[in-house]
Amino acid sequence: MTETVLLVGGGGREHAIARALADDADLYACAGNRNPGIAELSEGFETLDTTTPPAVVSYAEDVGADLAVIGPEAALEAGVADALDDAGIYTFGPQEAEARIETDKGFQRRFMEKEEVPGCPDFEEFRDAEAACEYIDDYDGDLAVKPAGLTGGKGVRVIGDQVTAEEAKAYIRDSDYDRIVLEERLIGEEFTIQAFVANGELRVTPAVQDHKRAYEDDEGPNTGGMGSYSDASLELPFMTEDEYHGAVDVLRAVVDALDGYKGVLYGQFMLTTEGIKVVEFNARFGDPEAMNTLPVLNTDFLDVLTAARDGEKLPKLAFQRQATVCKYAVPDGYPTDPEAGARVQIDTESAGDALLFYASVDERDDGIYTTTSRSFAVVGVADSITEAEDVAEDALQRTGSEGLRVRHDIGKPDLVQRRIDHMAELRD
Ligand code: AMP
Ligand code: GLY
Repeated sequence: MTETVLLVGGGGREHAIARALADDADLYACAGNRNPGIAELSEGFETLDTTTPPAVVSYAEDVGADLAVIGPEAALEAGVADALDDAGIYTFGPQEAEARIETDKGFQRRFMEKEEVPGCPDFEEFRDAEAACEYIDDYDGDLAVKPAGLTGGKGVRVIGDQVTAEEAKAYIRDSDYDRIVLEERLIGEEFTIQAFVANGELRVTPAVQDHKRAYEDDEGPNTGGMGSYSDASLELPFMTEDEYHGAVDVLRAVVDALDGYKGVLYGQFMLTTEGIKVVEFNARFGDPEAMNTLPVLNTDFLDVLTAARDGEKLPKLAFQRQATVCKYAVPDGYPTDPEAGARVQIDTESAGDALLFYASVDERDDGIYTTTSRSFAVVGVADSITEAEDVAEDALQRTGSEGLRVRHDIGKPDLVQRRIDHMAELRD
């Protein structure tokens, strides 16, 4: 029997999920924007508000979904997994309470402390802006300022990196976040590991490094992520295999402490001279990181989903031993003042040897248009990071990214080497 799967979400991450499922399942999808890549792979595509649980459940029931997969965190926070589970549709994605590991950064840190999950930085949570500002004045060292709730990756301000202490205090006073977490600034190299989790087990995927800053050389404001790379091995060039496994141990400690978690658990780590620290956890695939991971997964994603649902052991994962480089094209002005409504002239054929993933674009009768978020990504898959980067750049030349902005430095030998040198210097 072919399984009918509903995919929730319409970004690049969800296009990657759709590709991983389309050959094996009857796929249906819903999202706020009509993503042409997902629509092409699906039997049906509905435009709806994915943070309204009854709308998603109603579509899932209409199409006879046996299973659902949720991409975006906002849907998890809105309780879409709870509503689908209640309707008898097994959903690969945590319920609202478990998703707090991502959606509430204060909860996340207290959880780590209480459950003795390794790698928790020094932190305090504040409801009062003035008390937070006083803490900044009195703290011996730099701090990261984090709104407790979801901000699409754009809410954090790191003192000594992006802002001064005075600017951080002004940010806290001028914003109306009801809770702020202040935590020690971690110094090192960041990496992501994503795990499939169900029935108390986890299956991990290769490490990926995302690039959050908007402009080349890591300048400018934080974004949802401008692009990312992974290597042919599980670890990245600036880290050891033991360090990779150390981070996996952190994820395992979370799974052991969170009874009944199902879905993807995403760990964002900082490799520091004091070991591996946790920058954050997410309750879903990363975007862009899903586009690095799913194309090299040889195991059928559907087999993971059905094993999760049926209470069976999750299959062991097999990966192509290849490197990947993902680069996003984003609207001019993104993330502070993005220009929506520009026509995007791309198609899958023109991407050459690279994979093309549509993201937050909207397909209308007369073409594909940008929204205020990231537009499309190209992913090169090859034997080395350098070769994968060449494939991705070649695709950008062919597709043209006029009116859009790309961080061309991602995955280039120079930048990859700088990360290695940075970590070597810190270790000295
Ligand atoms: P988040 O929204 O938690 O992913 O944070 C966005 C970015 O802020 C991270 O990718 C890091 O680059 C940076 N960041 C967050 N927390 C810290 C920290 N404690 N120390 C240094 N940088 C941090
Ligand atoms: N790439 C970061 C995220 O998905 O949150």
